[in-house]
Amino acid sequence: MLKQLVRMLPLLRPSLSWLFVLISMCLLTCGYWLWSGIRLENALKPLSKLTVEQVQVSGPAPTDVYDYEEQLVVLYNRVPKTGSTSFVNIAYDLCKLNKYHVLHINVTANMHVLSLPNQISFVRNVTKWHEMKPALYHGHMAFLDFSKFQIAHKPIYINLVRKPLDRLVSYYYFLRFGDNYRPNLVRKKAGNKITFDECVVQKQADCDPKNMWLQIPFFCGHAAECWEPGSVWALDQAKRNLVNEYFLVGVTEQMYDFVDLLERSLPRIFHGFREHYQNSNKSHLRVTSSKLPPSEATIKAIQKTKIWQMENDLYEFALAQFEFTKRKLMQPDNKHLQKFMYEKIRPK
Ligand SMILES: *[C@@H]1O[C@H](CO)[C@@H](O)[C@H](O)[C@H]1NC(C)=O
Ligand SMILES: *[C@@H]1O[C@H](CO)[C@@H](O)[C@H](O)[C@H]1NC(C)=O
Ligand SMILES: *[C@@H]1O[C@H](CO)[C@@H](O)[C@H](O)[C@H]1NC(C)=O
Repeated sequence: MLKQLVRMLPLLRPSLSWLFVLISMCLLTCGYWLWSGIRLENALKPLSKLTVEQVQVSGPAPTDVYDYEEQLVVLYNRVPKTGSTSFVNIAYDLCKLNKYHVLHINVTANMHVLSLPNQISFVRNVTKWHEMKPALYHGHMAFLDFSKFQIAHKPIYINLVRKPLDRLVSYYYFLRFGDNYRPNLVRKKAGNKITFDECVVQKQADCDPKNMWLQIPFFCGHAAECWEPGSVWALDQAKRNLVNEYFLVGVTEQMYDFVDLLERSLPRIFHGFREHYQNSNKSHLRVTSSKLPPSEATIKAIQKTKIWQMENDLYEFALAQFEFTKRKLMQPDNKHLQKFMYEKIRPK
């Protein structure tokens, strides 16, 4: 067949050039269809369905360039009088050595809720301020949901909670006597010598259980309902945020374990925190002066209130979550750190 065709070639010469043009055109068209067909198919496929080969051919997706260590932003929206200063002091002591920045968020008059214009500028600023990264931001502000602001990479939230009555008593004496951290600063209620017990008996405003409504709204966030003392919705929202939006929430009573988990998980910032916490006296330094423990009667009276019960509910919830997280580090034998790896990777 082929031989015949070759023998016929000289005879067919005029029509041969036409045949050649025809075949070339056919090949070109078919090639284009095939090529555009593949592209169209890929464009219609969701990214997750692209095969490994296809992803490799087109290069890594832009998000893969993101450097999680150097872009790390940790946001610690500290609740007043939960031992937060001790923790932040370690961060300041080690920021130069570990090469990260620590920034205090100073809001007018210590307001815990940001205005709408401040919300958007804060969120954009934290996200875009690359010279500060990696960074630890800290301030007495309620949880702010970054996902409402068109932000691609949300910061990592951390926090500490404390037993609500301890926190209230600490705050009460702090306002009157200050602490050994800034001993010469005259506090709001300096000179007021009424003890917390007396305050409770006299039903004064400063020891009103409503003042305990603070950890719930801090975790609940910027919604109006969060700041309604006694709101069940606020408590539920606080719990949901605590597990869904926070990377880690520790308890003041177990600061070392909090620091330990952070150092193990996010060493880019928290490397060396454990050792510093154990060896430096500065980290234990802030102690409210002249603090009298409340009497049995006071404790009983406070524990009867709805606000204490709800705040305590959140505290217990946070504690259970923290204990659970701690246990998982070493389970099942409590001697070795949990490991994980990949295997059965196919195709080879
Ligand atoms: C926050 O800023 C105000 C105004 O500049 C200043 O007076 C205040 O001391 C600052 N607060 C803290 C805790 O540094
Ligand atoms: C963030 O705010 C600070 C202080 O206002 C400013 O100096 C800095 O340029 C801002 N950064 C960005 C990226 O907006
Ligand atoms: C901490 O305090 C103890 C005694 O109060 C002292 O012996 C020790 O040297 C101090 N450590 C540091 C790191 O300052």
